[in-house]
Amino acid sequence: MTAFEDITLAKLRGRASAKWTTYPADVLPAWVAEMDFPLADPIKQRLRRAIDSDDCGYAHPTALAEAFAAFAKSRFSWTVDPSRVRSAPEVMIAIAELLRIVTKPGDGVVINPPVYPPFAMVIEEVGRKVIDVPLAHVQGGGWDLDLGALEKAFADGAKAYLLCNPHNPVGRVFEKSQLEAIAKLAKQYNVVVLADEIHGPLVLPGAVHVPFVSVSEPIGADAITITSASKAFNIAGLKCAVFVAGSPAMQSAMKKLPIELPERVGLHGMLANIVAFQEGAQYLDGLLAQLDRNRALMGQLIGVYLPAVRYIPPQAGYLAWLDCSALGLGEDPAKVFLKQGKVALMRGLDFGRQGACFTRVNMGTSSAILSEIVGRMGKAIEGTR
Ligand SMILES: Cc1ncc(COP(=O)(O)O)c(C=O)c1O
Repeated sequence: MTAFEDITLAKLRGRASAKWTTYPADVLPAWVAEMDFPLADPIKQRLRRAIDSDDCGYAHPTALAEAFAAFAKSRFSWTVDPSRVRSAPEVMIAIAELLRIVTKPGDGVVINPPVYPPFAMVIEEVGRKVIDVPLAHVQGGGWDLDLGALEKAFADGAKAYLLCNPHNPVGRVFEKSQLEAIAKLAKQYNVVVLADEIHGPLVLPGAVHVPFVSVSEPIGADAITITSASKAFNIAGLKCAVFVAGSPAMQSAMKKLPIELPERVGLHGMLANIVAFQEGAQYLDGLLAQLDRNRALMGQLIGVYLPAVRYIPPQAGYLAWLDCSALGLGEDPAKVFLKQGKVALMRGLDFGRQGACFTRVNMGTSSAILSEIVGRMGKAIEGTR
């Protein structure tokens, strides 16, 4: 049995994280984007060493930029100049601070719903205006960018674009040609692109992650890529993210960031990110193989328990975005699955109006627990079938 399969509910229920403490013990949680797998050994060892040497002071991110640059080169063939890398406690905090410096109060910022709910929240939090450019439905199923609508929003005066690539929740990995088209539009209309690539290291076989600034710089568009080891290595609670200026103009703009931002990073988050970037390749390869099997298993389980549900396997990550409209459970199927199946999922509507009748399921677990999750969903609708 691989370490990724060797997990038990009894052990997971001992965790203090949000996933395992929000609902009562009879509910199986598959909602927030935390995985159930053990941490990578090099990360555990580094954290143990820090605790054993009573090392819990402030972070001083000296080696982080170099570690990330080496990871970017080996994983994405992306050459990053370490002097362009900065750190923040979270991807979302970095986005908030970057929006404050690249836009003015009241400016429009484009997002592509259905999308990670904090995108709209952070834009409002910093006093900017959300401009929705929904993803388009693709014929035959699935979702994609609507470049025509994006151009219209840019032409109408948007000042920034918060791109989610790979996209949460639909699991799309945008192609190089699409990113180039976005960069050309951004340059033409003077829009700054903030590319959230936190799921980038989780791209699965069949797709390739192209960091946005690797295409925007040659085109001459202003962009910043924001990412972390936190999703791929399941260390979000340790609080550390990195971001990379995609042009000299952005590097210079970043001088306006709060000077203490890197010191707000958690020391253990920084140490864990460094080790993940430097020594995490073997773990990450094993994880991707598990997630690849899980997305296939999900299709089989849906065929058995929820044949009316529409599922398009994600190209990256461990989130399944399920169209439950044919089940007739109303706009919030997650509510029914929780009440009748005792399984906690994400509510589709939280990702925007486009998420009505959808739910998001976390597949970052063992095949046995994934089977239990979908089995419970099937039970929930037994009376309605
Ligand atoms: C697209 C995306 N961005 C950001 C985050 C959160 O990152 P952080 O905790 O570093 O703010 C998530 C978490 O699931 C996410 O899916």
